[in-house]
Amino acid sequence: MSLFPTTKILPTEDIIGREAFIRDVTRRTVEHQSVMIPGPRRIGKTAVATEILRRCRADHGALTASVDLFLQSTPEEFAKKLITAVLANQDSRILSVVQDSLAVISRWIQGSELVVRVLNSVEFRWLYHMDRMPQEELIEHALALPQTLAERQHRPVVILLDEFQDALAIGGQPLIKRMRAVWQQQPDTAYLFIGSQGSMMRALFGQTTQALYRFADILQLPDIPDDVWAQYIERKFVAQSMALKPGVVAEVLRNTSGHPYDTMKVCQAVYDIARDLNATQIDATIAWMALERATAELEAIFQSDLRGWDGTPHARRILVRLARNEPVYPPGVNAGQVKKAIDELMANGVIQRIGHGRYTFHEPMFQTYLADQE
Ligand SMILES: Nc1ncnc2c1ncn2[C@@H]1O[C@H](COP(=O)(O)OP(=O)(O)O)[C@@H](O)[C@H]1O
Ligand SMILES: [Mg+2]
Repeated sequence: MSLFPTTKILPTEDIIGREAFIRDVTRRTVEHQSVMIPGPRRIGKTAVATEILRRCRADHGALTASVDLFLQSTPEEFAKKLITAVLANQDSRILSVVQDSLAVISRWIQGSELVVRVLNSVEFRWLYHMDRMPQEELIEHALALPQTLAERQHRPVVILLDEFQDALAIGGQPLIKRMRAVWQQQPDTAYLFIGSQGSMMRALFGQTTQALYRFADILQLPDIPDDVWAQYIERKFVAQSMALKPGVVAEVLRNTSGHPYDTMKVCQAVYDIARDLNATQIDATIAWMALERATAELEAIFQSDLRGWDGTPHARRILVRLARNEPVYPPGVNAGQVKKAIDELMANGVIQRIGHGRYTFHEPMFQTYLADQE
């Protein structure tokens, strides 16, 4: 494990600055209140949500399951993932068959003691033959499964649905409407929705015309304050018998603005370089080298983020202009289209308006990258 991990599941002691938030959401979800956390990529949504689920299990005896909707293509596939994730809470071996077909999973269920422990009752008979079930019926059963288990086992159920905006691509409005219809009758189950397309997530839960309107509390992930970062970073280096010269942490944070993923990347680069140089004192030169190295590593991610904006006319040009502090309206383009692109960029948490025609980037290292383009 890296000193500053950037893994999907972050160790509890590396999740900093969000204790009050984690406690609040844990309390809401074990009390059966669903919560939605929107926000751009790499700010710590999955890490926080995974920790919330862990506490729901460890401190409140809840049954939990998590499903990532990213890259799933059909409602059946979603149903299968949900069923296996929920059942994995009963028997962790079920996760090893998750890649397989429904036929394999139902055969496996028939041959396992899961049947004896939880499934040997009328409510679960359908699991034996889910591979032969019409799609509609399978989805209905999958959506109902969490609450059925909650009632049988008298415990709260909390289900994490990551990258939830992808539900629209998987099953469109009909799937979302089915979800709402089934879920609103589940008194012991809460859903924790997270999604990186903030605007789409807010539309799904915040617009009166949408099926999930008011289904979940919409909560904002708080920023991590600089002093919390500073304490954490110093503690980590001290534990490695390394000392930071004054100003080094401030310089790192000035460049990253405390963006969670970028800050961890830069700190890890500081550590790697210091180790390579056998340095026990970390000075401004090492910090500068680390920024260079982390920037190079982040390039692939930023390129892929930019490709995500290919479908939005002028978005890329506007981003580069903003990054260079040039006037936002490129000469000779339709002002309405520019405004539309800016609104999209703001709704997705890429930029933020700070005054008339003035914007800042949510991820300053992305700005630096853009400013150096072309
Ligand atoms: N609270 C935190 N404290 C420290 N680092 C964090 C925190 N949250 C996230 N990170 C860093 O950011 C990375 C990405 O977090 P992740 O939860 O995957 O973001 P998201 O789900 O929003 O895309 C983590 O692997 C970790 O390096
Ligand atoms: Mg995530």
